[in-house]
Amino acid sequence: HPPSSNTGECSSKTLLDVRESSSHSLAVCWEWCDVKDRELKFDIIPNDHPYHNAKNPRTVGRANEKLASAVEEVKKDGRTCLVVGGDHSLAIGSISGHAKTEPVIWFDAHADINTPLTSLSGNMHGQPVAFLLKELKVSGVPGFEWLKPCLSAEDIVYIGLRDVDDAEQPTFPKDRQEQTLSLNIISPQKINKKKPIHLSFDVDGLDPPLTPATGTPVPGGVTLREGIYVAEQLYKTGLLSAVDTVEINPRLGKTQEEVDSTVNTAVSIILSGFGKAREGSHSCSY
Ligand code: ARG
Ligand code: MN
Ligand code: MN
Ligand code: MN
Repeated sequence: HPPSSNTGECSSKTLLDVRESSSHSLAVCWEWCDVKDRELKFDIIPNDHPYHNAKNPRTVGRANEKLASAVEEVKKDGRTCLVVGGDHSLAIGSISGHAKTEPVIWFDAHADINTPLTSLSGNMHGQPVAFLLKELKVSGVPGFEWLKPCLSAEDIVYIGLRDVDDAEQPTFPKDRQEQTLSLNIISPQKINKKKPIHLSFDVDGLDPPLTPATGTPVPGGVTLREGIYVAEQLYKTGLLSAVDTVEINPRLGKTQEEVDSTVNTAVSIILSGFGKAREGSHSCSY
């Protein structure tokens, strides 16, 4: 997970926090499946000045480059790749490294399709979809020289959207239309394609009380039952090939209980995506 673009914090620490945060923690997953664990360390690049509105581009870009090679290795090894992290900007590396990514299920309250020109917050977590899309031609961002956009707009299915910026809307003023793209909001036939599926699961797609330790909560989200259903159904396709679980930030929990519920919710979604069925267990395939 690359450094959080809004806080500048180093994120491999966040993963450790996640592991230490909960009594159940990821140890449950570790027992459930044959897990080969890897931890990535990322550099904070000094004097990492914004590129237009994009903050910390070099730090986030190089972290993603590293993540992309790690994901590529995991896939070469024939495994399902699970990335657990904080900032959704990590999807740039995760999806690029996966590369056979069609379709991508983007589970999120947000569209994350701002560009360095349209972003109002400057946070990289609001921009990964734009970086990945061939149509948007985001280029010239320092730190991202390695990146080749690998997705088309029609490869992406959004679930849970409820906070989309003006600049992310297809109705955005004509003179800036070239920076934006029509959103493709859930079309179920996409997941009928017999191709490997990448699930990019932002926990803020869920209703905020389920995952309070996250940076940009939006009321009125997906219920736990619906979230688990999505993960179970994707598992059942037999095509789930890589999963990102993101925007898990234990430091933002106001109490231990908030941290625990965030981590436990994320763990139950992950387990469902790896074959834990509510009606009873059968072991995962990978
Ligand atoms: N649209 C807002 C932005 O561009 C919020 C994005 C939130 N994304 C996330 N992965 N939490 O900053
Ligand atoms: Mn973030
Ligand atoms: Mn997101
Ligand atoms: Mn989000």
